[in-house]
Parts: sequence; C-alpha cells; structure tokens
Amino acid sequence: MKRLVGAVLGLSLCACPGAMVTSDAGVPVVDAGETLSDPFDAGSCLAPIVVDAAKADAGHAFLFTGPVGGQLVPRLAFDNLWRVWATTPPSDVPAAIRERYGFARALTPNDGLPMGFRTDGSYVRVDCLVCHAGEVAGQTVVGAGNNRVDLELFVDDLKSLARSFGFTPPNPPALRTGAKGVSDIIGMTLQLGLRTMQPPFPVNTEIGYQDAPAWWTLADKTRVYTDGSGPQAAHRTMMATQLAFGTTQAELERLEPEYIALREYLLTLKAPAWPFTAPSSDAVARGRALFRQQCTICHRDDRCERQESNIVPKETVGTDPERSVKYGMNEVALINNTWFGATDQHRASGGYTAPSLRGVWASAPYFHNASVPTVEAVLDSTKRPKFFRVLGTSRADYDEQAVGLKVEVLTAAPTNPSRGDRAAVYDTTKVGLGNQGHLFGDALTPAQRADVLAYLKTL
Ligand code: HEC
Ligand code: HEC
Repeated sequence: MKRLVGAVLGLSLCACPGAMVTSDAGVPVVDAGETLSDPFDAGSCLAPIVVDAAKADAGHAFLFTGPVGGQLVPRLAFDNLWRVWATTPPSDVPAAIRERYGFARALTPNDGLPMGFRTDGSYVRVDCLVCHAGEVAGQTVVGAGNNRVDLELFVDDLKSLARSFGFTPPNPPALRTGAKGVSDIIGMTLQLGLRTMQPPFPVNTEIGYQDAPAWWTLADKTRVYTDGSGPQAAHRTMMATQLAFGTTQAELERLEPEYIALREYLLTLKAPAWPFTAPSSDAVARGRALFRQQCTICHRDDRCERQESNIVPKETVGTDPERSVKYGMNEVALINNTWFGATDQHRASGGYTAPSLRGVWASAPYFHNASVPTVEAVLDSTKRPKFFRVLGTSRADYDEQAVGLKVEVLTAAPTNPSRGDRAAVYDTTKVGLGNQGHLFGDALTPAQRADVLAYLKTL
C-alpha cells in the first residue's frame, strides 16, 4: 500500500486538502511515508454551514407540496400506462407501474402515485424525488439517489400512450438510461441548453451515465456534481432538469426563491443510520485508523464536518472516464451562458470528486456511474461483476456483509431483452458504464478490508 499511495501522490494534481501539504504551485511536498501516519490537519476543516431554519422549512414545504414540476401527463393516462406493455390490467396497477419504471414507494398515500409524483386530480406532475429518493433496505429514503429508475422507458411509454390517449406528451430531449438508476442527465441538460443557445463550437450531448449523489452529503463539501463542476451553493443548475418534464424556464425563474429555499432544506438532511447488526467497536477503531492513513488523503476526514471538495484527476482515480471527459470546456461554456449557469458558473474539472462517505452504506451501487454493487468490491477490484442484475430494494436484498446490494451475476448481457427489461442488466462493457479503477483498497488484507467496512457503516 505504501508504494501505491506514493504513486498516487507522485501523480497527484489532486488538491487533497489537509491530507497533504501543497506548495504554491500545487505540487505535493509531503512524502508518501509521512502521509501513511495519520496526516490530519485540523486547519483543513471548514466551518459547518449555518442553515436558515425558516428557509429550510419553506423549502421542505415547497418540495413536498408546492408547484414543483409542470403538467406531465393526464392522471387518467398515467393510470393506464400498463396498456403499453400488457393486454389485461395487472392486479395491482400502482405496484406494476413502480416495478416497471423503478419508481420508489411514496412515504404517504400520495393518491396512489409513486415517490416523486403528485397530482391535482386531473394532471400528474413529476418532481426532484423521482431521482432523488430511493428505496434502501426496504425503506424509501429522501435524498438517496433512486438506483432503480428507468426514465428512458417511462418517457418512451408516455409517447406511445399519448398516441392512443390523445394528449400531448412533454417533449423532453433524448434521455438515455444506461442501466436502471443511471441515466445521462447531464447530456439531457446540455440538449436543453442547445434549444436556446447555438454556440459556434461543437457540444457533446452524450456524457456517459450518472446516478444521483446522496443529498445528505451536500453540507460536507464545496463542489457539486460527480465531477465537481458546479459550486456547492448552486441552485439553478439543479432546477434545470425540470425543463425536461413540462416546466418552462419562465415558471422556474418565477419560482427561484422557492428553489433557493429547497436547497436550504437539502442542507438539513441527515444520512440514515446503518439498520443491521452494529459492527464491533474494535473493528471500527481499527478500520478508522486504516481509513485515516490510506483514504483521507482524498476522502473527507470525519474529524471535519466539512472540507474543501477534492477533485481527483481521472487518470489518478482511474474510474470510467466518459462523464469527466465529455463534460469539458465547450459544454461548460454552453451551460455558463444560460440563465442556469449565470449564477452557478461551472468549470471543467478533468476528474471526479472523492465523495464524502457519510451514509455510504445507503448509496449503493457505487461510483459516479453506479457500476459496482458493494463497498467491498469498491475496495477489492477482483470482486466486481462484469454483468449483473440487482435483485431488489427490500431489506432482504441488502448485502450486509459486503455493504451494498445483492446481485445476480451473469456471464453475458442478455441478447434481445424485452423493452421493459432492456436496462435491468448492468453491462459494464458499455461506454460510460465501466467498473474499472479506484484500486486503492486492493492491497488491504481481507481482515483490514473488513475493518474498513465496519468503520464505514458508522459514518
Ligand atoms: C431525472 C433525474 C433527476 C431529477 C428529476 C433531478 N435530479 Fe438532481 N441530480 C441527478 C443526477 C443524475 C445528478 C448527478 C449528476 C452528475 O453529477 O453527473 C444530480 C445532482 C444533483 C445535485 C448535486 C448533488 C451533489 O452532491 O453533487 C443536487 C443538489 C440536485 N441534483 C438537486 C436536484 C433538485 C433540487 C431537483 C429538482 C428541482 C433535481 N435535482 C432533479 C438527477 C436528477
Ligand atoms: C487518490 C484519491 C482516493 C483515494 C486514496 C481513495 N479514494 Fe475512494 N474515491 C475517490 C474518488 C475520486 C471516488 C469517486 C470515483 C467515481 O465516482 O468515479 C472514490 C469513490 C469511493 C467510494 C464510492 C463512493 C460512492 O458513493 O460511490 C468508496 C466507498 C471509496 N471511494 C472508499 C475509499 C476507501 C475506503 C479508501 C481507502 C482505502 C479510498 N476510497 C481511497 C478517490 C480516492
């Protein structure tokens, strides 16, 4: 491991705050030997964000009961979605709809609609929680990225239904779902930008695949998005997705104060606690020591409430490069020239942020493209399946041992899957879905890895 960390540092352009002292030119001046002892520097901790409680309450009310999302689909049509894939109605229509599109169960009766949807009786609206709330060990958790959703299928089905039901479906740009839970949201946002701007330079609109980072890590960091391209205080770019689902920019501009309050609410979210057998305190202590020696060089140290986000060059972390490479200078320039980017100036980062690992047990699968089902496999690259199918989101489907999701491992991607099953298997050989890189846990012994896992359960 010593050699590996040394190699990382040698390469490092990574502005690892606190974990390493850098010269003015950003060149690391700490040698690898030193960083292997606990490299903590309390000076690297940032003061926790002070949340405006009244604003956060208003944001909560707006997110759950306010006019988020435009009129997406008539209620009657939503309830008849099953006609796209079945000839007789399923016995439990709401459950069949949740199952097909990977929507989570709502926390309230919600008029029979899944999480992330709401209705005034005649129309159905969709909001942030369709992607930003997911079922974790059998519970719907606000702020956990929905790791099952297939929005491409949903949009396609809405279009077919619109023909027979005679309503005008929203006209979202192409939304590519690489596998359940990972879609090209950034690519979709860029296509939306191109609807109003025609820049004199080429712009990529296929940016790999992304899953939604856990909202409860927002208060831990200074940059958002998996590549750290956005400033933490950004609120407009997070609103932009709504354009795809029947909301106009004028409506969003009018509701800007509400969205600022919504963001304040997000800062109050806490990670859910590990709901299984508590790890032994000895294992946790050993794991913590290892983590401080080998991981806080990049990841947040739990002695800091908040730290500068650490963007690790894609070559150093080695995970699938697509998302980072394709969101480059031109794409950033396009976004920065829209109303959405005007306040939230993005920058091309060339890497991925080392995420805060608070509540990491609840945000499986792992990496920015959800390509690795368990933390154990994040820390042991030999255990990463090439083709897999997530079994489900119930408590029994959670892999307590390996910390993550139980999966069925396949030897190949199915040929000719049905439309509904197309995204069910995660195929890591596809562009943007690679599961390589982040070999930083490979040199741990199995016992050390188990200790690190024990520690991570407590975050
Ligand atoms: C269609 C799915 C989808 C919808 C709808 C959606 N998001 Fe997201 N969101 C994502 C994905 C995916 C990312 C990560 C993109 C990336 O970094 O590559 C993200 C990132 C974010 C982040 C940054 C998280 C971080 O820690 O880096 C915030 C904050 C956020 N979204 C808020 C919102 C809000 C508020 C709404 C509703 C107004 C919303 N999102 C609607 C999918 C969605
Ligand atoms: C050189 C920097 C670096 C080091 C050292 C490092 N990591 Fe990471 N880690 C990252 C980056 C960057 C990512 C995000 C990669 C991506 O999404 O493509 C990441 C992702 C992860 C994830 C997945 C998180 C998620 O929500 O998807 C886990 C778990 C993790 N690291 C644990 C560890 C542990 C444990 C160690 C120490 C044994 C460690 N890392 C060492 C940079 C590092």
